Amino acid sequence: MFKTRYLITNQFTHFQRSSFSSQPFDLVVIGGGPGGYVAAIKAAQLGLKTACVEKRGTLGGTCLNVGCIPSKALLNISHKYEDAHKNFKGLGIKVDNLGVDWAQVQKKKGDIVGSLTKGIEGLFAKNKVSYYKGWGKFTSKNEIAIDLNDGKKETITTKNTLIATGSEPTPFPGLEFDEKVIISSTGALALQQIPKKLVVIGGGVIGVEMASVYQRLGTEVTVVEYLDNICGAIDLEVSKAFQKILTKQGIKFLIGHKVLGGKNLGNAAEVVIEPVKGGDKITLTADHVLVSTGRRPYTQGLNAESIGVKLDNRGRIQIGHNFTTGVDGVYAIGDVVEGPMLAHKAEEEGIAVAEILTGKVGHVNYDAIPGVIYTNPEVATVGKTEEELKKAGVQYAKGSFPFLANSRAKANDEIEGFIKVLTDKKTDKLLGVHIVGPNAGEMIAEAVLGIEYGAASEDLARTCHAHPTLSEALKEACMSAHFKPIHM
Ligand code: FAD
Ligand code: NAI
Repeated sequence: MFKTRYLITNQFTHFQRSSFSSQPFDLVVIGGGPGGYVAAIKAAQLGLKTACVEKRGTLGGTCLNVGCIPSKALLNISHKYEDAHKNFKGLGIKVDNLGVDWAQVQKKKGDIVGSLTKGIEGLFAKNKVSYYKGWGKFTSKNEIAIDLNDGKKETITTKNTLIATGSEPTPFPGLEFDEKVIISSTGALALQQIPKKLVVIGGGVIGVEMASVYQRLGTEVTVVEYLDNICGAIDLEVSKAFQKILTKQGIKFLIGHKVLGGKNLGNAAEVVIEPVKGGDKITLTADHVLVSTGRRPYTQGLNAESIGVKLDNRGRIQIGHNFTTGVDGVYAIGDVVEGPMLAHKAEEEGIAVAEILTGKVGHVNYDAIPGVIYTNPEVATVGKTEEELKKAGVQYAKGSFPFLANSRAKANDEIEGFIKVLTDKKTDKLLGVHIVGPNAGEMIAEAVLGIEYGAASEDLARTCHAHPTLSEALKEACMSAHFKPIHM
C-alpha cells in the first residue's frame, strides 16, 4: 500500500518538473558537499522537486575535491611506498629501484577525485535532482538568485531552502595563504614537488594526516601544537600513545608551543615560535608552512543574514530544533552549523532534513558519531573520552586490549596500539570506544553500532568474532571491561 503511494508521488514529481518548470522547487539546497548532495538525493528520492546549487563546478564539496578523498588517496599511496621502503625487506620481499613519481601520484589522486565527483553528477541525474552550477544567494526566503558559472544569471523560487555551504581553512594572522609557500590543506594536497622541509602549525587531524603523507615520502616534518597533546579532542591516553608512535616514525612535535609570527620569503618561509609556558624563542625554516589550526564556517556572499538567518559568535549558522534557522522554510546543516566538522555528520543531517520535510522523523544521534584519523596506525573513536566521563562525574569501568596480543595483528606484523572500552560501572552500557591501531577506522563501526543500540560491553564480548581478525581485539577489550580477557 505504502509502496504504491510512494511510486505515484515520484511519478507526479517527474511530471511536474517537465511540464511546469516555473513552479517553485520543494527544496533548493545551496552547496553540493556531502551534506548538501546527500540531502538533495534523499529529498528527490522521497518525492520532492529538488535542486542543488554548487559554485565549485564539481560536486562533492570540500570532502571529495580538497578534503577526505584526495587526502586519503595520498595517505594510501605514501603508506604503500613507506611499507615497501621500510618493511618489505623484513618480510622477505625484494624491491629494487623503489622511487616516487610525484606527477603520477598527483595524477592518480586527480583521477580518483574526478571519478567520484562525476559519479555524484550521475546520481543527481538518476534521481532527477536539478543541478545549477553557480553561486547561490538569497534575494528573499523563497527566492535564490544564481550567478551561473557560464556568466548567465537565473533566479529560482522554492518552498524550502537548505544551507549546506560548508567551511574553509582559517587563516593565520601574518601568515596569509598564497597556497605556494604558506599553504592550507588545499595547497598541501597539490604541491608541485615533495618538499625537503615542512612546518605544520596545528597538530590536529589535518596536521597529523598531512605530516604523515610527507614524512613517509622523505620530508623533514615539524609540527607545532599550542596544546600539550596532539588531536586535542581525542582520549588523552590514546593521544599520548599516538604521538609516541608518530614521533618514532620520524615526525617532530613541538607541543605546548605558540607561533609568534612568520615571514613568507618567496620560496621558503620562517616561523618564530615560543613555549607557551615561557622559554627561548625558536625560528623554524621550511619550504612550506601548512597552517592547519581549524576550519571556519563559510557563509560569504550568501545573503543569509539579509533574510533573518542568524550567525553565532563563531560565524556558524544558528539552528534550533530540526535544523531550523528561525526563518520559515530555511534550514542549515553540516560544517556551517555547530558540531564536529565531519563528512558523515553532514550526511546524516542532510538525510534527517529531507525526512523532516516529508513528514518523517529525521534524527541524528550525536552520541554515536565516529571520528577517524587515517594515519598508520589509524585512530578511531566513538562516544565519551575518559576525561569527559571524569568531568561529568560518571562512574565508569575501563577495559583495554593491546594489538600485540592479537593473532591477526601479529600475522600482519602490525602490533602497535590498543583498544580502550569505557562503560557505565553499574549497567555495563558502552559509553566510549577508543582505538589506536591497524584498521581502526573500519573496526570502530562495530562499536558505533553497539552504542547506537545501547549495547553493554558484555553484548560485544559474547558476540562471535571471526578468527583471526583484528576485531577480536575489540571483543577482548569488551571482555576486559566486563570481566577478564582470555588472551592477556
Ligand atoms: P562542504 O563539503 O564544505 O561543501 C560545501 C559546498 O558548498 C562547497 O562545495 C562550496 O563550493 C559550496 N558553496 C558554498 N557557498 C555557496 C554558494 N553561495 N553557492 C553555491 N555553492 C556554495 N571529514 C571526514 O568525515 N573524514 C575525513 O577523512 C575528512 N578528511 C578531511 C581532509 C581535509 C584535508 C579537509 C579539509 C576536510 C576533511 N574532512 C573530513 C571534513 C569534511 O570535508 C567536511 O566535514 C565536509 O566536507 C563538510 O560537508 P558540508 O557539505 O557541510 O560542506
Ligand atoms: P583541528 O581542530 O583538528 O586541529 C587544529 C589544531 O591546531 C588543534 O590541535 C589546536 O590546538 C591547534 N592550534 C590552534 N591554534 C594554534 C596556534 N596558534 N598554534 C599552534 N597550534 C594551534 O583542525 P584541522 O586539523 O585544521 O582540521 C579542520 C577540520 O577538518 C577538523 O574539524 C576535522 O574534523 C576535519 N578533518 C577531519 C579529518 C578526518 O576525519 N580524518 C581529516 C582532516 C580534517
